[in-house]
Amino acid sequence: MKNITKICCIGAGYVGGPTMAVIANKCPHIQVTVVDLNEARIAAWNDVDTDNIPVYEPGLSEVVAEARGRNLFFSTAVDDAIAEADMIFISVNTPTKTYGAGKGMGADLKYIELCARQIARVSMTDKIIVEKSTLPVRTAEAVRDILHNTGKGVKFQVLSNPEFLAEGTAVADLFNPDRVLIGGDSTEEGQEAIQALVDIYNNWIPRERILTTNVWSSELSKLVANAFLAQRISSINSISELCEKTEADVNEVARAIGTDSRIGSKFLKASVGFGGSCFQKDILNLVYISRSFGLQEVADYWEQVIIMNDHQKKRFALNMIKSLYNTISGKKIAFLGWAFKKDTNDTRESAAIYVADELLNEQARIRVYDPKVNSDQIFGDLNYLQTRKPEENASNVKVFEDPYRACENAHAIAILTEWDEFKDYDWQRIYDSMLKPAKVFDGRNLLDADKLRKIGFKVQSIGTTS
Ligand code: NAD
Ligand code: UGA
Repeated sequence: MKNITKICCIGAGYVGGPTMAVIANKCPHIQVTVVDLNEARIAAWNDVDTDNIPVYEPGLSEVVAEARGRNLFFSTAVDDAIAEADMIFISVNTPTKTYGAGKGMGADLKYIELCARQIARVSMTDKIIVEKSTLPVRTAEAVRDILHNTGKGVKFQVLSNPEFLAEGTAVADLFNPDRVLIGGDSTEEGQEAIQALVDIYNNWIPRERILTTNVWSSELSKLVANAFLAQRISSINSISELCEKTEADVNEVARAIGTDSRIGSKFLKASVGFGGSCFQKDILNLVYISRSFGLQEVADYWEQVIIMNDHQKKRFALNMIKSLYNTISGKKIAFLGWAFKKDTNDTRESAAIYVADELLNEQARIRVYDPKVNSDQIFGDLNYLQTRKPEENASNVKVFEDPYRACENAHAIAILTEWDEFKDYDWQRIYDSMLKPAKVFDGRNLLDADKLRKIGFKVQSIGTTS
């Protein structure tokens, strides 16, 4: 069987960067080269100060510092890295399509196809191709089709190896995953390729946690895992609304049901709505695939998870408006948090963006503080929606580097991300600097509402009236 000594990963993003850094860290005998077309991103991965790498993840800069220059390299020389590698991971983005058939639902696979064509063009030796990106079931068929028709006699095996890391805990998840999933062909060559990838992970992950399946089960399992996780959040969020009407407390309900070992306690935290680059995109993709097979009921079932999530984000914004006497025109609202969850600088599909958009429609003035997200990103997120002109966003939104200044003279504070540091702020100082009645809308049920009420705040949390 082929001994893997050189790996190339196409795509130096939130998945390609951390996964390859960990493989390089755990397999010093393998040379890992991560390539990307984005020169600025590669330059940031190569920054002498590893605190400036483009992905913020606890522990990541240390892992990169140890392996970079030894057996971990970041480069824009995509062709060279492909040509040299025994194994190529494809870890490029697979966003929801914004045009043509499947617009707003299906995955845009143009970047995947470009990678396959580039690999086909450049390769002169046999290679194992690993789908790391999240893909619609049966994508490997198209990848194979492109690779098997080069006419150069080069042999390719295509594996599916979806990634299950969560942002904010990427390094811990990669060091100690619940499982690694590898899908491949049942042929002898297919099984050999699976074994080559198993051997890499087996350097630090026990064999029993490495699951092997056929390619289609592996591709589909990734979409299904995300759909099940997101479905739990939409389920508890739907109950949060019922709690607010009935004086039940969603935190107590989550604890009560979560102690049933068949249900389990994780992913039952009610919130302003889930964000992140993948849950929505992957469920929309699942819905699209189901519809394309004529499975209307299946499609409608999963689509409801997204409908519920959109409702939760909108409901949060409308509750704020109602509670601020149905008029927020000109009122200052401080946002604590912009990232889609704590411990990441990623803002893709963050609930904060949509809540801000609703409030800006009502002519509010938004003041944002996030410990890891800069103002370019925040304005970029709002402008991307194209709800209003960039100049209007620029004049109605202000980004602060100091949370206390963001809250000064505000009518209300909204907690959009569950950053730990928010809990330790001097809330008396914040209260004293705000207009009264000073309101807090806690979209993460993060703060101690009783403590805040004793200071004088009017507090509204998700799914609880107490
Ligand atoms: P990302 O946008 O952060 O990174 C993708 C990178 O690929 C970009 O830097 C882009 O420039 C590069 N790229 C695109 N086409 C290229 C090409 N032809 N050649 C070279 N570089 C190219 O995306 P991400 O968050 O890392 O996600 C990548 C994939 O992993 C997606 O399919 C996603 O669904 C999946 N995934 C993401 C996460 C996550 O937590 N972000 C977790 C599991 C799976
Ligand atoms: C999620 C999955 O957890 C990963 O397994 C998967 O690899 C990844 O998607 C992916 O495919 O991209 P991620 O989106 O990074 O990871 O983060 P999560 O921890 O899943 O959180 C997603 C969103 O749900 C966040 O906005 C978070 O605040 C929210 N959430 C999570 C809740 O509102 N309540 C919860 O109980 C849990």
